Amino acid sequence: MRVPIIPIRVLTFVAMILILHGSDGLFKYKNIKCKCYEKSYCEFKKCELKVLGRGIVGLNMHVQAKQLPITSVKAILTMFRQFSGYRPFLYNVTVDICGFLKNPKRFPFFSMVHDAIRNFSNFNHSCPYNDDIIIDRMVLNDEMISRMPVPNGFYKLLVAVATEGIWRGEVEAYVEVNLGYDR
Ligand SMILES: *[C@@H]1O[C@H](CO)[C@@H](O)[C@H](O)[C@H]1NC(C)=O
Ligand SMILES: *[C@@H]1O[C@H](CO)[C@@H](O)[C@H](O)[C@H]1NC(C)=O
Ligand SMILES: *[C@@H]1O[C@H](CO)[C@@H](O)[C@H](O)[C@H]1NC(C)=O
Repeated sequence: MRVPIIPIRVLTFVAMILILHGSDGLFKYKNIKCKCYEKSYCEFKKCELKVLGRGIVGLNMHVQAKQLPITSVKAILTMFRQFSGYRPFLYNVTVDICGFLKNPKRFPFFSMVHDAIRNFSNFNHSCPYNDDIIIDRMVLNDEMISRMPVPNGFYKLLVAVATEGIWRGEVEAYVEVNLGYDR
């Protein structure tokens, strides 16, 4: 019996596939934290990252609003980049959410964030809001990151939300951007 000789080209090819497979996802969740300041106003029933399949992670969030309807919402989105500790980086925008939902073009950065969320959420219609806000198995894809001109690194997006002029809570999403090359 002869031992088959595997050409080196094939081995290189297999190794490349393994390496590429190991680095799936250019844009990945690392962690998520949610906080409501007043339990009598709102409560997070869910705030978690769940593995949906090999290398695929989905975000689940369910925030119960206890005083409905919601007719006026303000959000501040601040991006941080990790150097030694997280420092503000590139974006810090204040958005009138109900105004945005009427006219998304006025807020290009929030529009990118909303595009990423809307297919996975009931946060997809104009104000008023009369229900809990739910995000279900939201995945990140490489197309989303291709629209954001950020270098490789670890980031935090902080979203603080006020309704009727009162700060109600915040969400911190931690992500890694790794394009496999520098830009
Ligand atoms: C972002 O903007 C808000 C509103 O203008 C401000 O209160 C906040 O301090 C800013 N955050 C940073 C990190 O600059
Ligand atoms: C959302 O769904 C629409 C329609 O199915 C699709 O064209 C679009 O690419 C989706 N967006 C994301 C970010 O998945
Ligand atoms: C908004 O999301 C809900 C729940 O996912 C869905 O039933 C509804 O069709 C969506 N509406 C729009 C306008 O996309």
